[in-house]
Amino acid sequence: MERTLVLLKPDAVRRGLVGQVLSRFEAKGLTIVAMELRTITGEAADAHYVEHVDKDFYPPLREFATSGPLVALVLEGDEAVTVVRTLTGATDGRKAQPGTIRGDFSLSNRENIVHASDSVESAEREIALWYPDLP
Ligand code: CMP
Repeated sequence: MERTLVLLKPDAVRRGLVGQVLSRFEAKGLTIVAMELRTITGEAADAHYVEHVDKDFYPPLREFATSGPLVALVLEGDEAVTVVRTLTGATDGRKAQPGTIRGDFSLSNRENIVHASDSVESAEREIALWYPDLP
């Protein structure tokens, strides 16, 4: 069993897509082991996106990530990291395959509905950051 950290970003919450996106993860057979609606600070965004803070696209991404509530969840299942990345699709919603979450709901490479950990190591770091007390 593997765990991964997923964010339903502020665009997903604003557009009323939380239920539909969560349904896809549940229908796949993944288990929700933690979930909370949170509005994060710029410092929390910096910690989450530590590998991106020096990139050109980071300032508007920081603005977006802190622009309203998001849903932070931990999903568990067999090969959950890879399975969730496959469901999520390519970063740029304009290029993501139809049938993926971003391919079906996003027309942007910033406002792309979901974040999902990109490796088991990232998942461990991100879960510890968002849910330090999760057993
Ligand atoms: P996410 O999976 O959360 O990881 C990093 C985020 O940065 C990504 O989704 C997008 O929201 C954003 N991002 C990545 N590349 C770009 C880019 N070229 N321009 C704008 N935003 C980007």
